[in-house]
Amino acid sequence: QIRVLTGITPSGTPHLGNYVGAIRPAIAASRAPGVESFYFLADYHALVKVQEPERVQRSTLEIAAAWLACGLEPDHVRFYRQSDIPEATELTWLLTCVAGKGLLNRAHAYKAAVDRNREGGEDDDAGITAGLFMYPVLMAADILLFNAHKVPVGRDQVQHIEMARDFAQRFNHLYGDHFTLPEAAIEEQVATLPGLDGRKMSKSYDNTIPLFAPPAQLKKLIFSIVTDSRAPGEPKDTEGSALFQLYQAFASAEETQAMRAAYADGIGWGDAKQELFERVDAEVAPLREKYEALVAHPQRIEQQLRDGAQALRTQYATPFLRELRAAVGLRELG
Ligand code: TYM
Repeated sequence: QIRVLTGITPSGTPHLGNYVGAIRPAIAASRAPGVESFYFLADYHALVKVQEPERVQRSTLEIAAAWLACGLEPDHVRFYRQSDIPEATELTWLLTCVAGKGLLNRAHAYKAAVDRNREGGEDDDAGITAGLFMYPVLMAADILLFNAHKVPVGRDQVQHIEMARDFAQRFNHLYGDHFTLPEAAIEEQVATLPGLDGRKMSKSYDNTIPLFAPPAQLKKLIFSIVTDSRAPGEPKDTEGSALFQLYQAFASAEETQAMRAAYADGIGWGDAKQELFERVDAEVAPLREKYEALVAHPQRIEQQLRDGAQALRTQYATPFLRELRAAVGLRELG
């Protein structure tokens, strides 16, 4: 049995990057034989970025509905909300005490925040919370709590998984073999999906295409993707083209080959955008309908999430934390 685990932070509306980087490959993986899947909403992580309670709740509902609309089967997949499993925070402390501070200093998100402060002439850590700094330890706890083998993610999360391996190794070295060392699973051609401006599609860059945007908005957004100024008839580069990379994430290998040829032949940007719109809409339209039906019944989703977490606590989290507490020398809980 291989254990596959991944999470999405409910800090906004699910976007195409979440879909191609995490949801789509994770659901495909959950259908393979011999796989046990753990998919969750990382709402403790959301607090690092979002301090608006309603937004966290709305986003939790939307991302849960997105998972279900995209085909997650709650009877076959462990589906839960991180904060319903408080053992994750207790494990975070146990890992904090073996996590190298120097390693955390090198985490991309933290370093980027420090760099921004330096550029602005501020103190290195101005406005940076300990939550942002500790983010990788909390994420390691998510993964190690269930001894996951594989973690399907986009490229931006790989460093976090390497850190989880490092913390697990140190813990195992000190206290015996308790943790499986996890591995990142990345789909190469969609490792980083670009957003409207060509940078990584991300809520923080405000360049996302919502996964379930209505067709008119989807089309409008796709037509606003940056391109160079080459006219129809002039050959176009596929290399470094956000439009082409997006197309590739939604097309078969043959369609991608054909589009590559069309670029060389000088397809106009308007036509290339129309083709992308049609391709994305064809894939997303049936999911969008399911999504609309699901978000209309938040209580049903709420119940599924609670049931998922309760079963996991009883079967894994509580007994595992008992084992770990004993291993480090803490009192056995009654
Ligand atoms: P988050 O919420 O930023 O993103 C969720 C997933 O979507 C992927 N992703 C992308 N993939 C390709 N191209 C993009 N432009 C793009 N944008 C987002 C991310 O790589 C990720 O797989 N820290 C995590 C959530 C988390 C987690 C975990 C993941 C918490 N605990 C344990 C795995 C295992 C995060 O904030 O992802």
